[in-house]
Amino acid sequence: MPKPGIFVTRNIPQPALDRLEEVFSLSIHASDQAITRAQLLAAVKESEALLCLLTDTIDRELLDAAPKLKCVSNLAVGYNNIDLEYASSRNIVVCNTPGVLTESTADLTWALLLACARRVVEGDSFVRAGRFEGWGPMLMLGVDVFAKTLGIIGMGRIGSAVARRAEGFGMKVLWFDPLIDPQTVSAKYERTDLRHLCASSDFISIHAPLTPATRHLINAELLALMRPHTVLVNTARGPIVNEAALIEALRDNGIFAAGLDVFEHEPEIPAELLAQDNAVLLPHIGSASVETRTKMALMAAENAIAVIQGTEPPARVN
Ligand code: DGY
Repeated sequence: MPKPGIFVTRNIPQPALDRLEEVFSLSIHASDQAITRAQLLAAVKESEALLCLLTDTIDRELLDAAPKLKCVSNLAVGYNNIDLEYASSRNIVVCNTPGVLTESTADLTWALLLACARRVVEGDSFVRAGRFEGWGPMLMLGVDVFAKTLGIIGMGRIGSAVARRAEGFGMKVLWFDPLIDPQTVSAKYERTDLRHLCASSDFISIHAPLTPATRHLINAELLALMRPHTVLVNTARGPIVNEAALIEALRDNGIFAAGLDVFEHEPEIPAELLAQDNAVLLPHIGSASVETRTKMALMAAENAIAVIQGTEPPARVN
């Protein structure tokens, strides 16, 4: 019997490709660059499974171009790039990769938080530019982290992992998450509403999924509640923050700094944001460690294999 066909939309860690080849006839866009829309539409025509990335838009048009499709396995925990409702109406199983990237993403969140608080990137550029003329009592003053208040928006796996790290810094943790059962969150952390969180936190970190309800959740009004020493970190999805309003807050010193791993219109970043010294900007690398990306790719492979073999995949979202 011929093997079912899977299309993989970009180079991914080899162990996952090896595993897929045990079960599938594998086609891949063997590149480190994103596949074009036209290439993707053409490539999925005969596929029974698709292993895609958050940079691939899996909408109605794409799903209609793939009449044999049984599974869309997204190599990411977020799946806002997929029209879930339409996939479900076509009985296409959609899977993601939760859990395996939690700790790496929490680590990177802390890297951004600390870099912003202590002006690490600015300091590095300053030294490399030959501007360091010796220790100065007023040189590059940041804000302390220890014993401050951390507000977490989205208290799922990653938000909770970020909170655990905050304990080592003696921080008070506030959290806001309308979707989570408060019983599942440690009583050490204080549940609050979003306005209070924004007004009372020294550091704010976003860990919510992108949905219609969270698009532009952080807007000019909430940014205005934050204080001049507040640091905002976003390692979730760019459109959760109104980027234009954030740029204004950074420019007017309405907040101290922002650490961003994600952007509203990735990969485009407004020149005004690039110009802000008080923003630390990363290229969406929250889960980008060798170990984690390998685990994610293997999980995405196992998801696709399970669906094709008619068993329950490790992480199904519909
Ligand atoms: C995800 O998984 O959703 C991240 O954004 C990429 O790891």
